[in-house]
Amino acid sequence: MSTLESRLHTAVGKVREHWRGTRFIDGLEPGVEGTEALLELARLYRAYKLEIGRLGLLKGRAVAGLFFDPSLRTHTSMEAATGRCGAQFIHLKAGQGGTWTMEFEDGVVMNGAAQEHVREAAPVLSSYADVLAVRAFPHHPADRDEKVIRAFGRYAMGPVMNLESALSHPCQGLADGLTLADLGGGSFKGRKVCLTWAPHPRQLPQAVPLSVVRAAIMGGADLHLACPEGYDLDEEEMERATSFCPYTGAKLTVTRDPDAAADGALAVYAKGWGSAMSLEEHTARVATLGNWTVGTERMRNATAFMHCLPVRRNVIVTDAVLDGPKSRVIPQAANREPVQAALLLTWLL
Ligand code: CP
Repeated sequence: MSTLESRLHTAVGKVREHWRGTRFIDGLEPGVEGTEALLELARLYRAYKLEIGRLGLLKGRAVAGLFFDPSLRTHTSMEAATGRCGAQFIHLKAGQGGTWTMEFEDGVVMNGAAQEHVREAAPVLSSYADVLAVRAFPHHPADRDEKVIRAFGRYAMGPVMNLESALSHPCQGLADGLTLADLGGGSFKGRKVCLTWAPHPRQLPQAVPLSVVRAAIMGGADLHLACPEGYDLDEEEMERATSFCPYTGAKLTVTRDPDAAADGALAVYAKGWGSAMSLEEHTARVATLGNWTVGTERMRNATAFMHCLPVRRNVIVTDAVLDGPKSRVIPQAANREPVQAALLLTWLL
């Protein structure tokens, strides 16, 4: 065994000391120590990914990515991570033109549009692929129903990775934790991190902002969350995330003032998200809110700008910030591959 292989086995062993789970659904599953160990493994993968690509560590394994919704980064980074680890990636476009239309409710008479029940689909896919990775968005931001990812979690026979659901984008959160740690020189414990709501013409789900909150709390940040009235994040999920504060030393301040939240922050993370309002109410409300677009003035005393991408230029953030020296959106997106590889290696090495 090469030195690199042995280092990878040691790093995987450290993750498994803290986490033996096979579900990565909301990102809190590995716990504080498991998350730290996953980030350490991701750093090792990132530093040696070309060499790792020649080792074929997961040769003979397969990962199925089932996409009910579009993706650029998630799909490509999953395929890159899987291939570089030596495994095969099977990309499945779910629904029309892809797989059969799927049913998720139990006890239904399937005489409508759905041709296949997840109770069969999930174990069948598990018989071909060692890991199932699933993306399924909600239909409305107030829709808390995670029935697709939860059903795969229930019926799959092997590990299941959430590639974004109604309330969680855990791989994005893990990549964001890695990016924040990079900005902080290895850790962002005790550092001010700003998560700010930003305007968007659509009512987007809360999966990304909730995952940013979880990542910031798991890393022990001094998190300042700025959003207008009516756009507070899901109360139950916020309670679950903040229950980790006593273990990590994280602090949370919620404010209606984005300038105060951004002032002196290690990173200003902008994201549009929706609420229970109708689209018409949202559009009317956004027009009354003043300037929540992140510009150079808001970034004056902040170190870095972050966004998960795709981003609406000059709506969420100005060109000057996005194209300027403080923007970290490209390395942030690049960090998706190593964290997903870390999960695959933890489950399959
Ligand atoms: N950030 C993110 O998940 O990007 P995609 O929707 O392109 O996968």
